[in-house]
Amino acid sequence: MRAGHGILQLGLAMTASLALAQSTPPGVSMSVPDASALTSQPGDPSRGRRLVVDRQQGFCLLCHSGPFPEERFQGTLAPDLSIRAGQRVAQDVRAQLLAPDRFNPDTIMPAYGPPTTKGVRVHPQFQGKPLLQPQDIEDVVAFLMQMPP
Ligand code: HEC
Repeated sequence: MRAGHGILQLGLAMTASLALAQSTPPGVSMSVPDASALTSQPGDPSRGRRLVVDRQQGFCLLCHSGPFPEERFQGTLAPDLSIRAGQRVAQDVRAQLLAPDRFNPDTIMPAYGPPTTKGVRVHPQFQGKPLLQPQDIEDVVAFLMQMPP
């Protein structure tokens, strides 16, 4: 019984810290990834675009669509990247990439970067490994932020 109680408490503590994290301003240390810039080098939007359309690295278009006329096959499982990203601040977009489950606990979007790569739809080969490196994340964020709304 004691063990069960402990697990329940842990669950409650986790829920509480998640709720707290969402209202914590960026830059303040928290139990979920910090959403301030991951590298000192500013993101490169054109490299970010390449990562977004790349089927091996970003594979964003598996689920998302966007203004990528050269890409014939785009996803229909997620919002159009151009419309939504333009309405958000860089911290939110970065947090979305690092920990999409903060915004939707049942999300199908994988967590992309260190330190908490996880995701139900991530191939076992990639479980526990970052899908994108910190500079890749910054490049993708830079690209999404400069997309026309
Ligand atoms: C397996 C499907 C999947 C993949 C791959 C994926 N996403 Fe997502 N993404 C989603 C879904 C679904 C949502 C809608 C919110 C939710 O359900 O979590 C979303 C939401 C977002 C949002 C927030 C949109 C908004 O304003 O609400 C951004 C930004 C985003 N994704 C960017 C990306 C980028 C960039 C990549 C590639 C590096 C990517 N996603 C890869 C499924 C995916």
